[in-house]
Amino acid sequence: MKPERFYKLIEADMQAVDAVIRRKLKSEVVLIQQVADYIINAGGKRLRPALLLLSAGALGYRGTLHHDLAAITEIIHTATLLHDDIVDESELRRGRKTANVLFGNAASVLVGDFLYSRSFQMMVEVNDMRIMRILAEATCVISEGEVLQLMNCHNADVDEERYLQVIRCKTAKLFEAAAQVGAVVGGADPETEESMARYGSHLGTAFQLIDDVLDYSSVEAETGKHLGDDLAEGKPTLPLIYVMQHGTAEQALCVRQAIENGGRDDFPQVLAAIRATGALEHTRKQAEAEICRAQASIEALPASTYKDSLLDLSVFAVARTF
Ligand code: IPE
Ligand code: IPE
Ligand code: MG
Ligand code: MG
Repeated sequence: MKPERFYKLIEADMQAVDAVIRRKLKSEVVLIQQVADYIINAGGKRLRPALLLLSAGALGYRGTLHHDLAAITEIIHTATLLHDDIVDESELRRGRKTANVLFGNAASVLVGDFLYSRSFQMMVEVNDMRIMRILAEATCVISEGEVLQLMNCHNADVDEERYLQVIRCKTAKLFEAAAQVGAVVGGADPETEESMARYGSHLGTAFQLIDDVLDYSSVEAETGKHLGDDLAEGKPTLPLIYVMQHGTAEQALCVRQAIENGGRDDFPQVLAAIRATGALEHTRKQAEAEICRAQASIEALPASTYKDSLLDLSVFAVARTF
Protein backbone atom coordinates (compact mmCIF):
# COMPACT_ATOMS: atom_id res chain seq x y z
CA MET A 1 0.00 0.00 0.00
CA LYS A 2 2.84 2.39 0.78
CA PRO A 3 5.71 1.55 -1.51
CA GLU A 4 6.91 5.13 -1.81
CA ARG A 5 10.47 5.87 -0.84
CA PHE A 6 9.59 8.64 1.57
CA TYR A 7 7.86 6.21 3.93
CA LYS A 8 11.03 4.11 4.27
CA LEU A 9 12.90 6.70 6.27
CA ILE A 10 10.10 7.09 8.79
CA GLU A 11 8.81 3.53 8.93
CA ALA A 12 9.46 3.03 12.63
CA ASP A 13 8.08 6.48 13.46
CA MET A 14 4.93 5.77 11.46
CA GLN A 15 4.40 2.61 13.48
CA ALA A 16 4.71 4.64 16.64
CA VAL A 17 2.17 7.12 15.24
CA ASP A 18 -0.20 4.29 14.47
CA ALA A 19 0.09 3.04 18.03
CA VAL A 20 -0.74 6.52 19.36
CA ILE A 21 -3.77 6.76 17.07
CA ARG A 22 -5.09 3.39 18.22
CA ARG A 23 -4.54 4.21 21.88
CA LYS A 24 -6.23 7.59 21.58
CA LEU A 25 -9.27 6.32 19.73
CA LYS A 26 -10.23 3.96 22.49
CA SER A 27 -13.61 4.65 23.97
CA GLU A 28 -15.94 2.73 26.23
CA VAL A 29 -18.79 3.79 23.99
CA VAL A 30 -19.07 0.83 21.68
CA LEU A 31 -20.30 2.72 18.62
CA ILE A 32 -17.43 5.22 18.80
CA GLN A 33 -14.94 2.40 18.95
CA GLN A 34 -16.63 0.57 16.06
CA VAL A 35 -16.79 3.53 13.70
CA ALA A 36 -13.31 4.76 14.58
CA ASP A 37 -11.80 1.28 14.16
CA TYR A 38 -13.66 0.83 10.92
CA ILE A 39 -12.24 3.90 9.21
CA ILE A 40 -8.78 3.71 10.76
CA ASN A 41 -8.33 0.01 9.95
CA ALA A 42 -9.19 0.75 6.33
CA GLY A 43 -5.74 2.34 6.11
CA GLY A 44 -5.28 5.45 4.05
CA LYS A 45 -2.04 6.98 2.92
CA ARG A 46 -1.22 8.67 6.23
CA LEU A 47 0.34 11.55 4.32
CA ARG A 48 -0.22 14.30 6.85
CA PRO A 49 1.57 12.50 9.70
CA ALA A 50 4.31 11.50 7.26
CA LEU A 51 4.74 15.14 6.29
CA LEU A 52 4.94 16.26 9.91
CA LEU A 53 7.57 13.64 10.72
CA LEU A 54 9.65 14.47 7.66
CA SER A 55 9.45 18.17 8.37
CA ALA A 56 10.59 17.67 11.96
CA GLY A 57 13.34 15.32 10.79
CA ALA A 58 14.58 17.76 8.18
CA LEU A 59 15.11 20.25 11.00
CA GLY A 60 17.08 17.79 13.04
CA TYR A 61 14.41 16.76 15.55
CA ARG A 62 15.15 13.37 17.08
CA GLY A 63 12.70 13.15 20.01
CA THR A 64 9.31 11.44 20.19
CA LEU A 65 6.85 14.29 20.76
CA HIS A 66 6.26 14.44 17.02
CA HIS A 67 4.54 11.04 17.15
CA ASP A 68 1.68 12.56 19.14
CA LEU A 69 1.54 15.60 16.89
CA ALA A 70 1.51 13.47 13.76
CA ALA A 71 -1.29 11.36 15.25
CA ILE A 72 -3.27 14.54 15.90
CA THR A 73 -3.10 15.52 12.23
CA GLU A 74 -4.36 12.09 11.13
CA ILE A 75 -7.19 12.17 13.65
CA ILE A 76 -8.27 15.60 12.43
CA HIS A 77 -8.07 14.34 8.85
CA THR A 78 -10.19 11.30 9.73
CA ALA A 79 -12.83 13.53 11.32
CA THR A 80 -13.00 15.62 8.14
CA LEU A 81 -13.45 12.46 6.05
CA LEU A 82 -16.34 11.22 8.18
CA HIS A 83 -18.10 14.55 7.80
CA ASP A 84 -17.11 15.04 4.16
CA ASP A 85 -18.56 11.69 3.08
CA ILE A 86 -21.92 12.59 4.56
CA VAL A 87 -21.98 15.97 2.84
CA ASP A 88 -20.78 14.48 -0.46
CA GLU A 89 -23.11 11.49 -0.11
CA SER A 90 -20.13 9.28 -0.91
CA GLU A 91 -20.51 5.54 -0.63
CA LEU A 92 -16.98 4.28 -1.05
CA ARG A 93 -13.84 5.28 0.88
CA ARG A 94 -10.57 3.42 1.24
CA GLY A 95 -12.05 0.57 -0.73
CA ARG A 96 -14.91 0.04 1.68
CA LYS A 97 -18.44 1.26 2.16
CA THR A 98 -18.28 4.68 3.83
CA ALA A 99 -19.12 4.93 7.51
CA ASN A 100 -22.26 6.90 6.66
CA VAL A 101 -23.52 4.04 4.52
CA LEU A 102 -22.68 1.41 7.08
CA PHE A 103 -23.50 3.19 10.35
CA GLY A 104 -25.68 6.07 9.16
CA ASN A 105 -25.21 9.84 8.98
CA ALA A 106 -25.94 10.47 12.65
CA ALA A 107 -23.24 8.08 13.86
CA SER A 108 -20.75 9.51 11.36
CA VAL A 109 -21.36 13.12 12.41
CA LEU A 110 -21.09 12.32 16.07
CA VAL A 111 -17.99 10.16 15.83
CA GLY A 112 -16.43 12.86 13.64
CA ASP A 113 -17.14 15.29 16.47
CA PHE A 114 -15.55 12.88 18.92
CA LEU A 115 -12.40 12.72 16.80
CA TYR A 116 -12.14 16.51 16.61
CA SER A 117 -12.63 16.72 20.35
CA ARG A 118 -10.05 14.02 21.00
CA SER A 119 -7.55 15.84 18.83
CA PHE A 120 -8.03 18.98 20.92
CA GLN A 121 -7.54 17.03 24.10
CA MET A 122 -4.27 15.69 22.68
CA MET A 123 -3.15 19.20 21.70
CA VAL A 124 -3.73 20.37 25.25
CA GLU A 125 -1.59 17.49 26.53
CA VAL A 126 1.26 18.62 24.27
CA ASN A 127 0.97 21.97 26.06
CA ASP A 128 2.62 24.22 23.49
CA MET A 129 0.64 27.35 22.78
CA ARG A 130 2.25 27.98 19.40
CA ILE A 131 1.42 24.50 18.17
CA MET A 132 -2.09 24.71 19.58
CA ARG A 133 -2.62 27.97 17.73
CA ILE A 134 -1.51 26.49 14.39
CA LEU A 135 -3.70 23.39 14.70
CA ALA A 136 -6.73 25.20 16.09
CA GLU A 137 -6.57 27.70 13.25
CA ALA A 138 -6.20 24.91 10.72
CA THR A 139 -9.35 23.12 11.91
CA CYS A 140 -11.34 26.36 11.62
CA VAL A 141 -10.03 27.01 8.11
CA ILE A 142 -10.81 23.44 6.99
CA SER A 143 -14.40 23.86 8.13
CA GLU A 144 -14.59 27.21 6.38
CA GLY A 145 -13.34 25.54 3.21
CA GLU A 146 -15.98 22.84 3.37
CA VAL A 147 -18.72 25.42 3.93
CA LEU A 148 -17.40 27.63 1.11
CA GLN A 149 -17.48 24.60 -1.14
CA LEU A 150 -21.05 23.87 -0.11
CA MET A 151 -21.96 27.42 -1.11
CA ASN A 152 -20.27 26.90 -4.49
CA CYS A 153 -22.08 23.65 -5.26
CA HIS A 154 -24.37 23.77 -8.29
CA ASN A 155 -22.94 27.16 -9.18
CA ALA A 156 -21.41 27.06 -12.67
CA ASP A 157 -20.13 30.64 -12.36
CA VAL A 158 -17.47 29.72 -9.81
CA ASP A 159 -14.13 30.67 -11.33
CA GLU A 160 -10.62 29.33 -10.84
CA GLU A 161 -9.88 31.81 -8.07
CA ARG A 162 -12.86 30.79 -5.96
CA TYR A 163 -12.09 27.14 -6.60
CA LEU A 164 -8.50 27.64 -5.44
CA GLN A 165 -9.72 29.43 -2.34
CA VAL A 166 -11.78 26.35 -1.43
CA ILE A 167 -9.02 23.83 -1.91
CA ARG A 168 -6.45 25.94 -0.09
CA CYS A 169 -8.79 25.95 2.89
CA LYS A 170 -10.29 22.49 2.89
CA THR A 171 -7.15 20.53 2.01
CA ALA A 172 -3.95 22.58 1.80
CA LYS A 173 -4.39 24.09 5.25
CA LEU A 174 -3.89 20.79 7.07
CA PHE A 175 -0.80 20.00 4.99
CA GLU A 176 0.47 23.49 5.82
CA ALA A 177 -0.18 22.97 9.52
CA ALA A 178 1.51 19.54 9.51
CA ALA A 179 4.63 20.90 7.84
CA GLN A 180 4.69 23.97 10.09
CA VAL A 181 4.19 22.04 13.31
CA GLY A 182 7.03 19.72 12.26
CA ALA A 183 9.20 22.80 11.88
CA VAL A 184 8.17 24.21 15.26
CA VAL A 185 8.90 20.98 17.08
CA GLY A 186 12.21 20.83 15.21
CA GLY A 187 13.13 24.22 16.65
CA ALA A 188 13.15 26.07 13.33
CA ASP A 189 13.78 29.81 13.17
CA PRO A 190 10.77 31.88 12.07
CA GLU A 191 11.95 32.11 8.47
CA THR A 192 12.40 28.36 8.12
CA GLU A 193 9.08 27.74 9.83
CA GLU A 194 7.45 29.99 7.26
CA SER A 195 9.19 28.15 4.40
CA MET A 196 8.00 24.79 5.68
CA ALA A 197 4.44 26.12 5.99
CA ARG A 198 4.62 27.34 2.40
CA TYR A 199 5.93 23.97 1.26
CA GLY A 200 2.96 22.26 2.95
CA SER A 201 0.44 24.64 1.49
CA HIS A 202 1.66 24.22 -2.09
CA LEU A 203 1.92 20.47 -1.63
CA GLY A 204 -1.63 20.28 -0.31
CA THR A 205 -2.99 22.42 -3.13
CA ALA A 206 -1.34 20.15 -5.68
CA PHE A 207 -2.64 17.12 -3.83
CA GLN A 208 -6.25 18.32 -4.09
CA LEU A 209 -5.85 19.34 -7.76
CA ILE A 210 -4.83 15.75 -8.47
CA ASP A 211 -7.68 14.44 -6.32
CA ASP A 212 -10.01 16.41 -8.56
CA VAL A 213 -8.36 14.92 -11.66
CA LEU A 214 -8.71 11.41 -10.23
CA ASP A 215 -12.41 11.97 -9.64
CA TYR A 216 -12.76 11.86 -13.45
CA SER A 217 -10.00 9.47 -14.39
CA SER A 218 -9.00 7.05 -11.66
CA VAL A 219 -9.31 3.32 -11.35
CA GLU A 220 -11.69 2.80 -8.45
CA ALA A 221 -9.80 -0.25 -7.26
CA GLU A 222 -6.76 2.00 -6.75
CA THR A 223 -8.28 5.08 -5.12
CA GLY A 224 -10.89 3.10 -3.21
CA LYS A 225 -13.38 5.87 -4.06
CA HIS A 226 -16.15 6.09 -6.64
CA LEU A 227 -15.55 8.10 -9.79
CA GLY A 228 -17.92 10.96 -10.48
CA ASP A 229 -18.67 11.89 -6.88
CA ASP A 230 -17.74 15.51 -7.59
CA LEU A 231 -20.09 15.81 -10.55
CA ALA A 232 -22.87 14.07 -8.63
CA GLU A 233 -22.58 16.82 -6.00
CA GLY A 234 -22.44 19.58 -8.62
CA LYS A 235 -18.91 20.60 -7.54
CA PRO A 236 -17.30 23.14 -9.88
CA THR A 237 -13.77 21.72 -9.80
CA LEU A 238 -10.97 22.91 -12.07
CA PRO A 239 -11.48 20.32 -14.85
CA LEU A 240 -15.06 21.55 -15.27
CA ILE A 241 -14.16 25.23 -14.99
CA TYR A 242 -11.59 24.67 -17.75
CA VAL A 243 -14.16 23.10 -20.09
CA MET A 244 -16.55 26.00 -19.53
CA GLN A 245 -13.81 28.50 -20.36
CA HIS A 246 -12.05 26.73 -23.21
CA GLY A 247 -14.53 24.27 -24.70
CA THR A 248 -16.97 24.83 -27.54
CA ALA A 249 -20.28 26.50 -26.68
CA GLU A 250 -21.89 23.07 -26.71
CA GLN A 251 -19.30 21.54 -24.36
CA ALA A 252 -19.55 24.51 -22.02
CA LEU A 253 -23.33 24.24 -21.89
CA CYS A 254 -23.19 20.52 -21.21
CA VAL A 255 -20.90 21.07 -18.22
CA ARG A 256 -22.86 24.06 -16.96
CA GLN A 257 -26.07 22.07 -16.90
CA ALA A 258 -24.39 19.08 -15.29
CA ILE A 259 -23.10 21.31 -12.45
CA GLU A 260 -26.48 22.91 -11.98
CA ASN A 261 -28.37 19.61 -11.98
CA GLY A 262 -25.85 17.38 -10.19
CA GLY A 263 -26.37 13.63 -10.37
CA ARG A 264 -24.58 11.08 -12.51
CA ASP A 265 -26.67 11.05 -15.68
CA ASP A 266 -24.44 13.54 -17.53
CA PHE A 267 -21.18 11.88 -16.51
CA PRO A 268 -20.40 10.28 -19.92
CA GLN A 269 -20.96 13.52 -21.87
CA VAL A 270 -19.06 15.59 -19.34
CA LEU A 271 -16.19 13.12 -19.43
CA ALA A 272 -16.12 13.34 -23.22
CA ALA A 273 -15.90 17.14 -23.03
CA ILE A 274 -13.17 16.92 -20.41
CA ARG A 275 -11.17 14.56 -22.61
CA ALA A 276 -11.71 16.56 -25.80
CA THR A 277 -10.55 19.84 -24.23
CA GLY A 278 -7.52 18.49 -22.34
CA ALA A 279 -8.99 19.71 -19.05
CA LEU A 280 -7.26 17.03 -17.00
CA GLU A 281 -3.88 17.80 -18.56
CA HIS A 282 -4.43 21.47 -17.73
CA THR A 283 -5.30 20.63 -14.13
CA ARG A 284 -2.24 18.38 -13.85
CA LYS A 285 -0.07 21.23 -15.15
CA GLN A 286 -1.43 23.49 -12.43
CA ALA A 287 -0.61 20.80 -9.87
CA GLU A 288 2.91 20.51 -11.25
CA ALA A 289 3.35 24.27 -10.98
CA GLU A 290 2.29 24.09 -7.32
CA ILE A 291 4.83 21.34 -6.75
CA CYS A 292 7.59 23.49 -8.25
CA ARG A 293 6.62 26.21 -5.76
CA ALA A 294 6.63 23.65 -2.95
CA GLN A 295 10.10 22.47 -3.91
CA ALA A 296 11.39 26.03 -4.24
CA SER A 297 10.11 26.78 -0.74
CA ILE A 298 12.49 24.28 0.84
CA GLU A 299 15.48 24.97 -1.35
CA ALA A 300 17.39 26.55 1.53
CA LEU A 301 17.00 23.56 3.86
CA PRO A 302 20.32 21.83 4.52
CA ALA A 303 20.79 18.64 2.51
CA SER A 304 19.58 15.52 4.32
CA THR A 305 17.75 12.26 3.69
CA TYR A 306 14.68 13.97 5.18
CA LYS A 307 14.88 16.80 2.69
CA ASP A 308 15.20 14.21 -0.11
CA SER A 309 12.10 12.48 1.22
CA LEU A 310 10.17 15.75 1.29
CA LEU A 311 11.07 16.14 -2.37
CA ASP A 312 9.97 12.54 -3.05
CA LEU A 313 6.70 13.27 -1.29
CA SER A 314 6.11 16.27 -3.52
CA VAL A 315 6.68 14.14 -6.61
CA PHE A 316 4.29 11.49 -5.29
CA ALA A 317 1.52 14.07 -4.72
CA VAL A 318 1.29 14.59 -8.47
CA ALA A 319 2.30 11.17 -9.80
CA ARG A 320 -0.07 9.23 -7.56
CA THR A 321 -2.87 7.06 -8.89
CA PHE A 322 -4.48 6.50 -5.46
C1 IPE B 1 -8.69 12.50 0.98
O1 IPE B 1 -7.41 12.55 1.47
C2 IPE B 1 -9.30 13.85 1.11
C3 IPE B 1 -8.61 14.86 0.32
C4 IPE B 1 -8.08 15.90 0.86
C5 IPE B 1 -8.54 14.72 -1.13
P1 IPE B 1 -6.38 11.37 1.27
O2 IPE B 1 -6.30 11.02 -0.18
O3 IPE B 1 -5.11 11.72 1.96
O4 IPE B 1 -7.11 10.17 2.03
P2 IPE B 1 -6.52 8.86 2.71
O5 IPE B 1 -6.25 9.23 4.13
O6 IPE B 1 -5.29 8.45 1.98
O7 IPE B 1 -7.62 7.86 2.60
C1 IPE C 1 -11.51 16.78 0.38
O1 IPE C 1 -12.29 16.94 -0.73
C2 IPE C 1 -12.31 17.01 1.59
C3 IPE C 1 -11.64 17.24 2.84
C4 IPE C 1 -10.68 18.06 3.01
C5 IPE C 1 -12.18 16.52 3.97
P1 IPE C 1 -12.99 15.76 -1.49
O2 IPE C 1 -14.43 15.69 -1.17
O3 IPE C 1 -12.60 15.87 -2.93
O4 IPE C 1 -12.29 14.48 -0.89
P2 IPE C 1 -12.69 13.02 -1.30
O5 IPE C 1 -12.58 12.93 -2.80
O6 IPE C 1 -14.08 12.81 -0.81
O7 IPE C 1 -11.67 12.15 -0.62
MG1 MG D 1 -15.64 14.09 -0.66
MG1 MG E 1 -12.29 14.18 -4.21
